Amino acid sequence: MAKVKTTFYCQNCGTQYAKWQGQCNACKEWNTIVEEVLLKEEKNDWKAGTVIQSKKTTKPLLLHEIDSAVEMRMRSTDSEFNRVLGGGLVPGSVTLLGGEPGIGKSTLLLQIALFLPFKTLYVSGEESQKQIKMRAERINRHNDNCYILTETKTQHIFKQIEKTEPDILIIDSIQTLHSDYIESSPGSISQIRECTSELIKFAKETNTPVILIGHITKDGNIAGPKILEHMVDAVLQFEGDRNHVYRILRSLKNRFGSTAELGIYEMLGNGLREVSNPSEILISKNDQDLSGTAIAATLEGMRPLMIEIQALVSTAVYGTPQRSTTGYNAKRLNMILAVLEKRAGFRLGAKDVFLNITGGISVDDPAIDLAVVAAILSSNEDIAIEKDVCFAAEIGLAGEIRPVQRVDQRISEAEKLGFSSIFVSKFNKITVKPKNIQVVLVSKIEDVITELFG
Ligand code: TYD
Ligand code: MG
Repeated sequence: MAKVKTTFYCQNCGTQYAKWQGQCNACKEWNTIVEEVLLKEEKNDWKAGTVIQSKKTTKPLLLHEIDSAVEMRMRSTDSEFNRVLGGGLVPGSVTLLGGEPGIGKSTLLLQIALFLPFKTLYVSGEESQKQIKMRAERINRHNDNCYILTETKTQHIFKQIEKTEPDILIIDSIQTLHSDYIESSPGSISQIRECTSELIKFAKETNTPVILIGHITKDGNIAGPKILEHMVDAVLQFEGDRNHVYRILRSLKNRFGSTAELGIYEMLGNGLREVSNPSEILISKNDQDLSGTAIAATLEGMRPLMIEIQALVSTAVYGTPQRSTTGYNAKRLNMILAVLEKRAGFRLGAKDVFLNITGGISVDDPAIDLAVVAAILSSNEDIAIEKDVCFAAEIGLAGEIRPVQRVDQRISEAEKLGFSSIFVSKFNKITVKPKNIQVVLVSKIEDVITELFG
């Protein structure tokens, strides 16, 4: 006779309770604690019914005894995806891909599945095989190695896996799966945890990489228990502004690589396209000299990236001046305006200030501060900044211009893209000796103003 056990879980953060209560102590949400039935059976195993007695035991080894051979990687033809993973998929690894609805998670993974030179099983619990076929037709790619399965029960999925024997398993999405061993409904905390641990077990025992798609909650976290992120080997996030075409694939956790890498894609009518030179498209092309724009040399992960900052400063029509930003931290804008007011004597207190980073991307690299200052001053004075000038420095509260990390890389990228001068802090240690770009060293906002506007 199966023993029925129940526990209470907060559906928002996954905290477990022994009995019901109105508010979750951990996340302070009300009415999120729900009783879930855990139906205990003999032994949960990814192979339904069969109980594998693991004979493999490991013994402790000295570090020098451990084989230091480089982890084998299964490469896809998508170089952005390979790079974010640190070189490709590691056999037996479990990767979680999160992102807002409609951002393109299913498209990205289907596309990768269709381009992979390995046998792939794409399991969808969200869409019918026909819908997936329609998507594949949009991507316009045919692959005899890619199998599509619509199924939500893990035990059935494992049965199909035994038949198909895929090299790579993709699950869209973990929130739609359910396991027989747990009574509660799909998407509940205990189901997500159980299904994930079955899949992890499958991945480790068969050395098959598994990629899971995960939904995110309204505050941007991956839905389900927080431990989900601890259980998997890598967590990737697909983000971007839905109204723009650019998408960024970021790594939040990676046991086999750096989390500083990121991939940039463009969503087109026929799928996602890798963007190998993002700087060129993020800078708008026009011939006129327009006031209020400045180019910043930023770093996204490890890659240098040139972005365009646009500012509009105008006299406030209403009593309270408005400050509005897209892609830039609003508090940081207020700080910069306060510094300009106090340290450089600009009367911006009674003006509306709008700030925009073009391309719909958002940047939190402090090195774009100087470009923000330049854009604001350029709009305020209505004097255009030369198109071939760019900036890479942080602004301090005292109005000082502070050094930024990896300045050499930023200078080289600016030089490569044909900029004629770059403004950096005087306190930055520069080791490169660029030939085709002039490096302007500045230490105070006043220096920038004299250099730019005379
Ligand atoms: P989808 O992959 O379904 O998003 P998710 O799985 O993250 O919810 O894709 C969503 C959007 O992408 C959808 O609005 C349509 C658009 N899209 C394109 O623009 N081009 C394409 O080739 C495809 C397949 C989708
Ligand atoms: Mg989807």
